[in-house]
Amino acid sequence: MSSEVLDILIAKRLKSEGRDNDTPLVVASATNLSTQFTADRRGTGCVQSHPSSDLSANAVVVNAGGAFAFYPTDWPGLVLSTYSKGCVAYLPWAPDQMYHRVRQPGSCIGAGRRDGFQESKWTHPVGHARVGTLRRASAGRLRCALTRRLAVAETIKITHIETLRAGIPALREMIFLNTAGISPIPSVVADEVVDLIRWQEEKGRYRPDVQEMLNERSEDAREITARFFGVTPEEITFTHSISEGLNIVSEGIDWKAGDEVIITDQEHPSGYMPWALRADQQGVILKQLRLLPEPEGMVDRLRNLLTDRTRVVALSHVTSSLGIRAPVEEIVRAGHEAGALVGFDGAQSAGQFPINLREMDCDFYSATSYKWCLGPYGVGALYVKRDVLPQIAVRRSGARAAAQVDMETGRLVFGDTARKFEFGARNLPLRIGYGRALKYIEEIGLQGIQARVRETVGYFREQLSEIPGARVQTPAEFSAGAVNVAIEGVDPGAVRQALWDKYRIVAVSPAGGMRFSITFFTTREEIDRVVEALKQEIA
Ligand SMILES: Cc1ncc(COP(=O)(O)O)c(C=O)c1O
Repeated sequence: MSSEVLDILIAKRLKSEGRDNDTPLVVASATNLSTQFTADRRGTGCVQSHPSSDLSANAVVVNAGGAFAFYPTDWPGLVLSTYSKGCVAYLPWAPDQMYHRVRQPGSCIGAGRRDGFQESKWTHPVGHARVGTLRRASAGRLRCALTRRLAVAETIKITHIETLRAGIPALREMIFLNTAGISPIPSVVADEVVDLIRWQEEKGRYRPDVQEMLNERSEDAREITARFFGVTPEEITFTHSISEGLNIVSEGIDWKAGDEVIITDQEHPSGYMPWALRADQQGVILKQLRLLPEPEGMVDRLRNLLTDRTRVVALSHVTSSLGIRAPVEEIVRAGHEAGALVGFDGAQSAGQFPINLREMDCDFYSATSYKWCLGPYGVGALYVKRDVLPQIAVRRSGARAAAQVDMETGRLVFGDTARKFEFGARNLPLRIGYGRALKYIEEIGLQGIQARVRETVGYFREQLSEIPGARVQTPAEFSAGAVNVAIEGVDPGAVRQALWDKYRIVAVSPAGGMRFSITFFTTREEIDRVVEALKQEIA
């Protein structure tokens, strides 16, 4: 089926329902591996969409053509699904048929849903379902068609916020404004990790097909991560944390006493400890770039600190307590002009807005999963630019290292990719879950996320101006989704506690203020409730 035919089918259906052709049909595009995996995991050849296990009645998520689509349930739309790398099934779908059935040609069907909808058990396609197979090339065209629709979805920013919120169960319990700390986890991401562990439980952990699948999917996650950051998989190392990523870089440099590193006065311990260790143990000189009281002029101040001894400039892309967003391109340019390596702590940036590391031209970037990317805890990624990889030596290694060992001479030859930093037992379900989280963010669309967050932050700032003595400490022109507010004469820790105890609002209280993290799922109603609660508490 060509993409034109697909478009005609979709258009026909939309027309028959009196909807215009711009109805947001597909929110995102992704690969189809999770579907394929589901098929294998179930062991019956059945394929099931991977819906959030806890959808509200107003929408359904299906894995559509390698894309996750959000369909309002009042719309009996066309459901598309790819599986087994290139097969596509398409079937009309109606609200009274709240299941998603696809059939691998020649195999049995047993798809069902785990979220309260009727389990279906059938072995032959029934009247309402038409199943077709496509060759891989056609599936690619199908994906293009779906991606075109994604563009429509992006221009209307993020639609279906309530659907997205319904897929993040923890949001039912509270107003969550600490994504800069540890985010809630969407069901599709949690399912990915849990399903993999259950699959290991069922099948055993050490059998060739299990190992092969996990390894393959872990490498898929590496590809997704690379795509997310606009770089190549060969430049991505999986880590446990931001700290680990920065340690890999700081340990790997061939330091001489007197070499200089520039960090800022606002680094999280992850951002200063790896460099402080070098100062403590190798005589490296640590210099601090001042961001406070005013980030304005930071690039000029950086230029004043740079010398011919500066080996590294390492800053937070967005700082932790105050959410100050650095002008990274200018910083990279300044550092490179002085001959230094330039890299960033991406804890507070990845997942908030589009990041293209190739365009940014930095030399390294350490990212994590569990904050703005809404992924699992304890996994992250380090990017090291291809040309820079040879300058970062491997200081620790072990089992499963990408190295050739000559046991007689003791000589080691590491591969020339960022895989050289990985070794030992690794938690593949977590990595795969991280990949799923990045896909989830991509599916929503980072442009849309950024636009919506800007709007909500603007609204919050306006509302805060009505609170006597409230001062936003996060500078508007250097900011993203975190807003740190100090209120004159108010103990931020006590108010933060009261917000939780009385209103079930989660925030934190660093740097003499309260930090509220606003992301795509934050609503204006929540902001109103937070502002009202603040007014009550300071009255
Ligand atoms: C700027 C920044 N860097 C790093 C981290 C966390 O680093 P790690 O992944 O090493 O725990 C945080 C967490 O709050 C952070 O805000």
